[in-house]
Amino acid sequence: MTFTEKHYKILTILADGDFHSGTELSSALNISRAAIWKYLHSFADSGLEIIALSGKGYKLDRAIELLSDSQIKAELNQQTSALLSTLEIHSQIESTNSYLVECAKSESSLGRVCFAESQTGGRGRRGRQWVSPFGANIYLSLLWQFENGFSAISGLSLAVGVAVVRALSDMGVKNIGLKWPNDIFWQDKKLGGILIEVSGESGGDCSAVIGLGLNLYLPEKETSTITQPWTDLERIIGTHNYSRNQLASLLLNHLLPIVASFENDTFAAYLQEWRSYDCMQGKAVAIYIGQQQFDGVVAGIDDNGMLLLENKQGEIKTFASGEVSFRQS
Ligand code: BTN
Repeated sequence: MTFTEKHYKILTILADGDFHSGTELSSALNISRAAIWKYLHSFADSGLEIIALSGKGYKLDRAIELLSDSQIKAELNQQTSALLSTLEIHSQIESTNSYLVECAKSESSLGRVCFAESQTGGRGRRGRQWVSPFGANIYLSLLWQFENGFSAISGLSLAVGVAVVRALSDMGVKNIGLKWPNDIFWQDKKLGGILIEVSGESGGDCSAVIGLGLNLYLPEKETSTITQPWTDLERIIGTHNYSRNQLASLLLNHLLPIVASFENDTFAAYLQEWRSYDCMQGKAVAIYIGQQQFDGVVAGIDDNGMLLLENKQGEIKTFASGEVSFRQS
């Protein structure tokens, strides 16, 4: 479905999870009750569930904390506020990454951040779709410019993983792991993923769009297309008693400073910490590169963030990229 301003306005009223009468909604939006009814029906294929009860009105099956520009900014620390140039929140967008990749073609901005409540064409790595229902998760992209080419930002996606673990830890969420190269994991299940898209000159100015998708609440019915074990924050912490806006701020508080100083610090600054979150060390895996499969046991990452795989013969192979899946050993 296509979200209009009216859809969004209705949701700002229903977001509290309480009943609201048709009369209340129609006067708030200044449209007829029949028109309200049509809007409410059009949510049917959005993933949002609206309960109607005669005499009481309409309510969402669960409250939503909508993302708010002012709430996110209020929790940013001084350093992050200074690094942030623009903060946008879209109720619906094709993909926050695609949007900023497009922006990067016409402007060279540092610290442009885009969140969305839903994505119609959310993209994962390797051409996969990223399931992006409304108001439930974090879909975040950050645009940054770098001066010293692609090689100077190698390992950036691993450092971004460190930022995400730190933000979750600040919220009291512990035991989050990182699965090389770009996945946020908890107990062998994927909680989130990072997609970095770089363009520009290989040895000079380049821009990177750093995209993060983090599952906070993924309704079962939305997950039929997901091909790997997944989880969400609510399953981990066992409650929906947390603030999406606070988490959004924490993510920016960790992400922006790391990205801004990455060319100076390099991945070396995050190597030890990344290793402490590594959830693949010692595990039997298969790495796929195109049609080729390499089996072995993960021997960690090297100083440049490349994956080390030990095969049956005891030889160590180094991988700069690839799709890794766990095997039964
Ligand atoms: C992965 O495959 O693990 C990477 C997932 C990245 C998803 C995020 S959601 C925000 C941003 N916009 C997108 O279209 N993709 C990234």
